[in-house]
Amino acid sequence: MVRAIKWVDEIVPAAPYVTTLDTLDKYNCDFCVHGNDITLTVDGKDTYEEVKNAGRYRECQRTQGVSTTDLVGRMLLMTKTHHSVEATQDYKRHQDNFGKDARGRSPWTGVSQFLQTSQKIMQFASGKEPEPGDSIIYVAGAFDLFHIGHIDFLEKVHRLAPKPYIIVGLHFDQEVNLYKRKNYPIMNIHERTLSVLACRYVSEVVIGAPYSATSDLLDHFKVDLVCHGKTEVLPDRDGSDPYAEPKRRGIFRTVDSGSCLTTDDIVQRIIKNRLEYEARNQKKEAKELAVFEAQQKLERIVEGQEN
Ligand code: C5P
Repeated sequence: MVRAIKWVDEIVPAAPYVTTLDTLDKYNCDFCVHGNDITLTVDGKDTYEEVKNAGRYRECQRTQGVSTTDLVGRMLLMTKTHHSVEATQDYKRHQDNFGKDARGRSPWTGVSQFLQTSQKIMQFASGKEPEPGDSIIYVAGAFDLFHIGHIDFLEKVHRLAPKPYIIVGLHFDQEVNLYKRKNYPIMNIHERTLSVLACRYVSEVVIGAPYSATSDLLDHFKVDLVCHGKTEVLPDRDGSDPYAEPKRRGIFRTVDSGSCLTTDDIVQRIIKNRLEYEARNQKKEAKELAVFEAQQKLERIVEGQEN
């Protein structure tokens, strides 16, 4: 997955948890970058101490409201929609655990809401228009919890032409919910937009594409080819095939991603490992909170408000 992120040039598999200067030198890296949340070793030391001391550490702000914790919370909530008293109590408990109230929560693992901005989209977008000779390929879907199945599919689609320009049509949340039901999509349209834009095979995203690949859409984007993976294609509201128009034009192709992973599989894994995950998370948050409080105390001391 990381290899398919467009800002990544090289991967070091099985990198050590604590980044050492030796590691940086071995791979010819000038410095190491991490978000502004604390990561600690088992004995409570900052994992980046060595590179920090050597002046080879840079920090970036963590994106507010985007965290694994929050996504997992949403996945677990999804199973609480059954109409039983027990389920309702469980639902309330999870809201306490994963709710939007960040008071008393670690500022890093805790939850807050992600706000989409045009700046953010600009950072992620390619900004490129198709060039003459490009093959404009359209694919559509939910692309929820953007995963390796999606990447494999987009990579195969990318291989179909020498100069592909891939446009991903993302269905709005209500549209996805209509055919996926339950609590889907897990990621909202803003989050799905950025996940898909981060992929090196994607040139453009239609934010809120119609469920069917209509004549208007194909003409507007001058689409040469429409692709779908081997997953099931559900009919549109009126029972029609959403790919009827590209099929009529002879520009539809089914592409085998070679992966059978689905968004549901990921959700099922999370549900299965829920207890383990919750325990891990509580421990992680308690540790982060302790460090955060110590940092704040230190700041107050430096400011002379406390001894
Ligand atoms: O299910 P979703 O709408 O997110 O799928 C988006 C596209 O990715 C579809 O064309 C689907 O067939 C394809 N896909 C795939 N292999 C997977 C998962 C999705 O080809 N394992």
